[in-house]
Amino acid sequence: MADLDGVIELFPTRIFKFRIDPRIIKDAVKHKKKGGENHTFDEVFNHPEFLSLQEEVLKSVTPYCPGGIPRLRHMRSQQKHDRIGEWKIVSGWINNQSPGQEGFKYHPHAESFMSCVVYLEGENMSINFRDEARLAPADETGRASYDLLIRHHWHEDATIPAEVGDVILFPSYLLHKPNKNETDIDRISIAYNLMPTRLNPPTTPPWSIKFDV
Ligand SMILES: [Fe+2]
Repeated sequence: MADLDGVIELFPTRIFKFRIDPRIIKDAVKHKKKGGENHTFDEVFNHPEFLSLQEEVLKSVTPYCPGGIPRLRHMRSQQKHDRIGEWKIVSGWINNQSPGQEGFKYHPHAESFMSCVVYLEGENMSINFRDEARLAPADETGRASYDLLIRHHWHEDATIPAEVGDVILFPSYLLHKPNKNETDIDRISIAYNLMPTRLNPPTTPPWSIKFDV
């Protein structure tokens, strides 16, 4: 039997965690509706009451979005913003998960490239991520070479603990869900979706797509 000669973790998924200044979190919580009443989308995204939090989140996560200015040694190979433009928060909403609530099932955010969650209130919080099964690609005849759904590496679901003030940044395609709220207090978070403002470099011919959200 041959010895194992090496293992390469190919295309790992980057998840980033940040800590927001507690004063900004406290200010945002002040504007939360009482009694578990839900905010409309207009009452969160670009709303003056949550704008300082939104701007702080954008400033914090942008360097770590693809093409961001690299700050970590292992990210040195990434390109700068001039290739895709600055990142923008394009939507945001509050989730109020009351005691005993299971919360959302596994889901991606299909309408954006990067997403993040900011935790405003709650205890024993975590976010679960799932490595979605991949479909075998089609062969040259246009048909799938085999009709199997495969887990590309048999990864187990992963749980990342979160506390008040944490921001967790992840690619929007990644399936995620909150853990059940097993405490007796509400668990309040804000989710933001991000998109780059330009997908083509400045030197691209004029017939290429310009994307500004
Ligand atoms: Fe989500």
